[in-house]
Amino acid sequence: MSLASKNLLACGLFLAVAQLAQPVTGLELTVSTSGGNKSSPILYGFMFEDINHSGDGGIHSQLLQNNGFQGANPGLTAYAPIGNVSLAVDTENPLSSAITRSLKVTVPPNASGKVGFSNSGYWGIPVNEANYTNSFYIKGDYNGDVTLRLAGASSGSLYASQTISVKSNSSSYTYVETQYPVKQAPDGNNIWELTFDASKVAGKSLNFDLIQLYPPTFHDRPNGLKPEIANVLVDMKGSFLRFPGGNNLEGLTPATRWKWNETIGPLTSRPGRQGNWGYPNTDALGLNEYFLWIQDMGLTAVLGVWDGLTIGGPSPQVITGDALKPYIDDVLNELEYILGDKDTTYGKLRASHGFPDPWPLQYVEIGNEDNLNGGGPSYAERFTAFHDAIKAKYPHLTIISSTDQYLPNPKPKGIWMDWHTYSPAGELVSMFNKFDNVDRAFPYFVGEYACISLDNGTELAQPIMQGSVAEAVFMIGMERNSDVVKMAAYAPLLQQYGGYTWNDHVPNLIMFNNNPNGIVRSTSYYVQQMFSVNRGSTILPVESDGSFGPVYYVASKTSDNKTYYVKFANYGPTPQPVTVNIPKTETGRLTTLSGAATAANTWSSPNAVTPKTSNVSSADGAPGKFTITLPAWSVAVLAVE
Ligand code: AHR
Repeated sequence: MSLASKNLLACGLFLAVAQLAQPVTGLELTVSTSGGNKSSPILYGFMFEDINHSGDGGIHSQLLQNNGFQGANPGLTAYAPIGNVSLAVDTENPLSSAITRSLKVTVPPNASGKVGFSNSGYWGIPVNEANYTNSFYIKGDYNGDVTLRLAGASSGSLYASQTISVKSNSSSYTYVETQYPVKQAPDGNNIWELTFDASKVAGKSLNFDLIQLYPPTFHDRPNGLKPEIANVLVDMKGSFLRFPGGNNLEGLTPATRWKWNETIGPLTSRPGRQGNWGYPNTDALGLNEYFLWIQDMGLTAVLGVWDGLTIGGPSPQVITGDALKPYIDDVLNELEYILGDKDTTYGKLRASHGFPDPWPLQYVEIGNEDNLNGGGPSYAERFTAFHDAIKAKYPHLTIISSTDQYLPNPKPKGIWMDWHTYSPAGELVSMFNKFDNVDRAFPYFVGEYACISLDNGTELAQPIMQGSVAEAVFMIGMERNSDVVKMAAYAPLLQQYGGYTWNDHVPNLIMFNNNPNGIVRSTSYYVQQMFSVNRGSTILPVESDGSFGPVYYVASKTSDNKTYYVKFANYGPTPQPVTVNIPKTETGRLTTLSGAATAANTWSSPNAVTPKTSNVSSADGAPGKFTITLPAWSVAVLAVE
């Protein structure tokens, strides 16, 4: 029997005894300081895929859009001519076999002065006081100055200007890299410009490719993450990273799936792809960059691998039978690249890319949402084929199915199952006890969840307090069952304000733009943070004199038995007094997030709802007794010692 079911039984008995003496002060809880179940140490974490420009134009730090003309039909997106030149996408002068298109800048005869082109970034460029690194490839006969500038798109204010001497020729590309100081801009409405001396190219053309602009990066990694966004994740103290999707793993066709081997090595050898979310992916944030992200944040990797199911493209959407074999081999190669010694074929390749040591990997998920989009009927066959091949070579790996349906019967021992929900608030609350009675032999990974609407059908374009409290209720249900719910992640994680592609009626955890401090931590972000930061290692039995709702709770303690946590959600419009008894504790703190049901953190009011922390002490003469009031629509964590 699960701890949650035992608690319910204990609660029922206690209720029967206590009914006559129902306290007027509200719910009274007594936390047992012993017993209980071990909680998963990696319960809270991150699900990431490039959606809403969360990667390119988001957490990845390269700032210029369409810098390698990748994807299905990039055109001249983000580029504009400067002076009397014409711009075109050129396929005659490939930079490499991967980067096959370039920007051709044609200069008319008798031209003079400075000409060139600009790039408007991803809905602007963040221009902050720092040294930026700028590079590009140039082909064509040129020997003279090139000026690189960052300027306000509307204001024309200049924030950086660097003139360098460039000598290039028409037989091959020349790589140019420079660094320059950048002054602070008041907002993100900025463009980048490259100009050269028109008189030296009059009547001819120059080609440019793989143009890159980097601010300082998280942990100073070349081709790294944007610190502003990465640090918001650090503050959440998540434990794992599921990547690279989500639907963006799947591809519109098998050929356009996320291909691990096209995301590694120098950027010149990464062709990019047309992602599933309607825009090209550069794949500069590739397999090794994901593992560096994991390393730098101390996370556990959850690698999604492609399993034959595509989404959104032409039929057939599913590959089965013998036709799957090359894709299974491809996954084994990927795993050898990640886990193999440097004397293996792919381990050697990884070492040649600068990573001699294998990456730590324990969890591999087979596909994404194979219960949907026609994947169900063949999933047992496909799952078994990938599972068996991976386990034969890497028996220590934990294999996660992408659904708890359509699995082989019996299920292979040791597998975990991914389960997703995007639900209205009330439905999420009603799933509080979803995991109370599931088979403990097959753990769950709740790989994606969010409250996306209210019960009357109102869709939420961003998290609001009522939805965030509903998520907290669901999370309390998961934490009470975290002997079997091993990991859980809100999704989607990030949204570039200009590049909303998921669905403009669906919320995201963290929104950002290019302005200084242009980040909005949603009410749901703060719920995730409060739950993640305050984690015990054992979930404790709790006796209660009332039933769940509108107040929901879960108690835990740390492994040193010193700190006790009680997490609460008040899913209702009325404040709720609660008395909590935790023997042998005296003092601590109470962190509360609350607001009107519709309260939200927005661009105009990013800090409308933030957690507030106060010190608490047990009542005089009643050690271990804490009396608190949960405001209407609130989430709270009591942490006492
Ligand atoms: O999180 C957005 C999408 O929702 C994911 O890519 C997919 O797995 C789910 O359907």
